[in-house]
Amino acid sequence: MRLQPLISSLAALVVGAVSVHASEPHDSSELRTRQLLFRSQIQNDANLRYVANSGICETTPGVTQYSGYIDVGTNMSMWFWFFEARNSPETAPFTLWLNGGPGCSSMIGLFQEHGPCLVNADGTSTYLNPYSWNNVSNMIYIDQPIGTGFSYGTDTVNSTEAAAPFVWKAFQILFESQLFSKYASREFIFGTESYGGHYGPSFVTYFEEQNALIASGTIQGEPIVVSALMVNNGWFDPLIQNIAYYTFATNAPGYGQLQSDAALKRISEALYNNNGCVAQEQGCYDAGNSTDSNTICLKADDYCINHVYVPAVGNLDPYDLRQNSSALFPPEYYVTYLTNPEVMSAIGAETTYQECPDAPYELFVKTGDDARTWLPQLSELANSGLKILVWAGDADIICNWLGCYAAALAMDWYGNATLHDTPLSNITLDGMPIAAVANVDNFSFARVFGAGHEVAAFQPAAALAIFTQVVGKEPLHSV
Ligand SMILES: *[C@@H]1O[C@H](CO)[C@@H](O)[C@H](O)[C@H]1NC(C)=O
Ligand SMILES: *[C@@H]1O[C@H](CO)[C@@H](O)[C@H](O)[C@H]1NC(C)=O
Ligand SMILES: *[C@@H]1O[C@H](CO)[C@@H](O)[C@H](O)[C@H]1NC(C)=O
Ligand SMILES: *[C@@H]1O[C@H](CO)[C@@H](O)[C@H](O)[C@H]1NC(C)=O
Ligand SMILES: *[C@@H]1O[C@H](CO)[C@@H](O)[C@H](O)[C@H]1NC(C)=O
Ligand SMILES: *[C@@H]1O[C@H](CO)[C@@H](O)[C@H](O)[C@H]1NC(C)=O
Ligand SMILES: *[C@@H]1O[C@H](CO)[C@@H](O)[C@H](O)[C@H]1NC(C)=O
Ligand SMILES: *[C@@H]1O[C@H](CO)[C@@H](O)[C@H](O)[C@H]1NC(C)=O
Repeated sequence: MRLQPLISSLAALVVGAVSVHASEPHDSSELRTRQLLFRSQIQNDANLRYVANSGICETTPGVTQYSGYIDVGTNMSMWFWFFEARNSPETAPFTLWLNGGPGCSSMIGLFQEHGPCLVNADGTSTYLNPYSWNNVSNMIYIDQPIGTGFSYGTDTVNSTEAAAPFVWKAFQILFESQLFSKYASREFIFGTESYGGHYGPSFVTYFEEQNALIASGTIQGEPIVVSALMVNNGWFDPLIQNIAYYTFATNAPGYGQLQSDAALKRISEALYNNNGCVAQEQGCYDAGNSTDSNTICLKADDYCINHVYVPAVGNLDPYDLRQNSSALFPPEYYVTYLTNPEVMSAIGAETTYQECPDAPYELFVKTGDDARTWLPQLSELANSGLKILVWAGDADIICNWLGCYAAALAMDWYGNATLHDTPLSNITLDGMPIAAVANVDNFSFARVFGAGHEVAAFQPAAALAIFTQVVGKEPLHSV
């Protein structure tokens, strides 16, 4: 579950980061003979190498799966795992899931949150997840940037913006291939969490820019028309969300005060003193994309992490305030499972699994990416009428729901006044309240009760019900 402790940015700063991370795949001569290959005719250095129906994880009869690599450039092998929908796969939408970090694997989402299976405590066997999101959608999980999870090779990605073209290229190869071409015209749902508050707004904006270039004949390619964006416990706007650490630690609704009065006083001072977190974050925003902005933003990030975030969390689990720092849920059994050579061979994995390796993360630190805001892009997407769900488990501290809600309320879009005037109201599942929500046209916000950072791990039935409503393009409602 470790969604790359934001804390390690200081360590990365001190140690200094390696600019290019290249890792060697394990010996896989045996594997290569079983792998199927598709070579792109349009993109340079681009292939799809995959294993069909490994029998791992999804064991529901008749449900197709593919796993393997999308080579998005020379020595750039991006891991993917695709599961057909369990029901109506020929008409179900196509959903991309990305975990955050930066530099954390999407196998977290697959094995701890909403994939077809969960791993038993023995680390060697799995059981079916009845609340898997592939019940209602075709699902693809991708490990990006290179170096994350099972992805391997040369990684040059040092910002959210720099990450987008590789993910775009991955879908160009997928949609060009016969294996995936039928999904190019399906509803495309983009699901993400945590650092996905950066990735989501940025990547969708980039895809739309590329679509425009394709439409005008400037570039050749397959449009990626995103029909819905859903981000739970997202890191959208650091200025707003750093302030929310204080608000949340003062009174986490339903849970109470998290830290002592003395600690809260120090956090407040660190936020609002002359060169405090708020001032430094504002300085980062004001510096825009200038070269200087890298240093300004990464200093702001370190200051806010050390003087606001760390004391707001204290000895609690940053991802679930109901647990302490030795949190046991969700368990990490799946990591053992993915390092099993038989499992690796079956699915076509060619490198040792790394949940949240340091190298990809450290490249992002250099540009202060964490301290930057993607709220303008999110606002513009909301303004365009795109279906968007901003949702959050209400026991998460690191990207707590008060901060996500404050970010949503700060969006500059046509629905702003209506969203402000719409109180959150409970929706139920089989009579039980699962979330407090507000819908304004195609925009929805939801606070999910009793869930930490990885919402679907804690409240699988609620998460599937909410996902199903997004798939159905419905406002959130009781069922
Ligand atoms: C790709 O990796 C191979 C093996 O590590 C190396 O010899 C080669 O120089 C790399 N090519 C590029 C363009 O990085
Ligand atoms: C998910 O789909 C499976 C197979 O179709 C079914 O057995 C299961 O009940 C479904 N789960 C839910 C929560 O509807
Ligand atoms: C930074 O550049 C990107 C495009 O490269 C742009 O979308 C964004 O608005 C710029 N940010 C600022 C603060 O100028
Ligand atoms: C965390 O909680 C568990 C169970 O409540 C307890 O046994 C353990 O000592 C606690 N650890 C810390 C570091 O507080
Ligand atoms: C980030 O990557 C780009 C493109 O590779 C490079 O031009 C830039 O110098 C890098 N920035 C930093 C701060 O390392
Ligand atoms: C909501 O999204 C649908 C497409 O799913 C679109 O037809 C409609 O115009 C959008 N509504 C608004 C108010 O933008
Ligand atoms: C949104 O509405 C609120 C309340 O009406 C107002 O204070 C705020 O300035 C508005 N924000 C934007 C970006 O329009
Ligand atoms: C909404 O549900 C929550 C969680 O069960 C509950 O605490 C709260 O009282 C409910 N609110 C209303 C207005 O019913």
